[in-house]
Amino acid sequence: MNRLAVLGHPAGHSRSPAMQNAALAALGLADEWRYEAIDVPPGEFADRVRAMEGEGFAGANVTVPHKEAALALADEASGTAREIGAANTLSFARGEVSADNTDAHGLLAALPVDPAGKRALVLGAGGAARAVVWALEGSGAEVGIWNRTAERARTLAGELGGEAVEPGADELLPVSGYELIVNTTTVGMDGKGGLAELRIPAEGFGPRHTVLDIVYGEGETPLLAAARAVGATVVDGLEMLVQQGAESLRIWTGREPDLDVMRRAAS
Ligand code: ATR
Repeated sequence: MNRLAVLGHPAGHSRSPAMQNAALAALGLADEWRYEAIDVPPGEFADRVRAMEGEGFAGANVTVPHKEAALALADEASGTAREIGAANTLSFARGEVSADNTDAHGLLAALPVDPAGKRALVLGAGGAARAVVWALEGSGAEVGIWNRTAERARTLAGELGGEAVEPGADELLPVSGYELIVNTTTVGMDGKGGLAELRIPAEGFGPRHTVLDIVYGEGETPLLAAARAVGATVVDGLEMLVQQGAESLRIWTGREPDLDVMRRAAS
């Protein structure tokens, strides 16, 4: 048996076990591979990961708050993970831990438009924003980064590229200058907080926008509901979850998972 897991804190809410086990079953691998969720407090992360190969684990996904620690403890890391500064996918073999990051792939695969040459506005400058900014910059988008705490947006732009967008205290974001808007903040996670918290004006927000919210939960976030109402193209966080998970499964098994099976199991 090859074991797989998602490591997070908390981990119980994760949809990855249902999604990955469905994909493994559809590939005829359910007897050989099994995916579970493991809650790991931050202080125990490195020891937990080091023990996993001995317990039969072939790999793990890593989620909040462990993505930076996952990169730090790895014996080798892909260029993508190193440049983003975080890992969401670990593989275990011959006593070594290899780190990768499939979030950037997940974002680009989830987008219904090619970001090359487009103007993209990234909301947020935390850990989740890093893979998004890296992916969009790398695919030739012109990236603006807005964050509630402007200093973090400037730091992120300095490290990964893009330009900090800093409206004045009473001003809203110049959304009409962008085609793509990606929310990486936690605003909307609990179903609360929408356009006002994200400084998005009602004016100029409309059908020419593609809006992706990387948050997923019960129902649509207020941002996506507002975007849908004005005729924008909307993409929810589940699609990015599916695409990053599919890429992790390719890394571990070398097989091509059925994305529709994963979508159904994750929603
Ligand atoms: P993650 O690693 O998941 O991105 P994080 O580093 O805690 O988590 O970042 C959370 C992001 O959500 C940040 O960009 C944060 O803005 P600040 O840097 O100003 O804290 C943003 N965020 C959280 N609550 C917010 C709110 N009520 N309004 C606007 N932005 C918010």
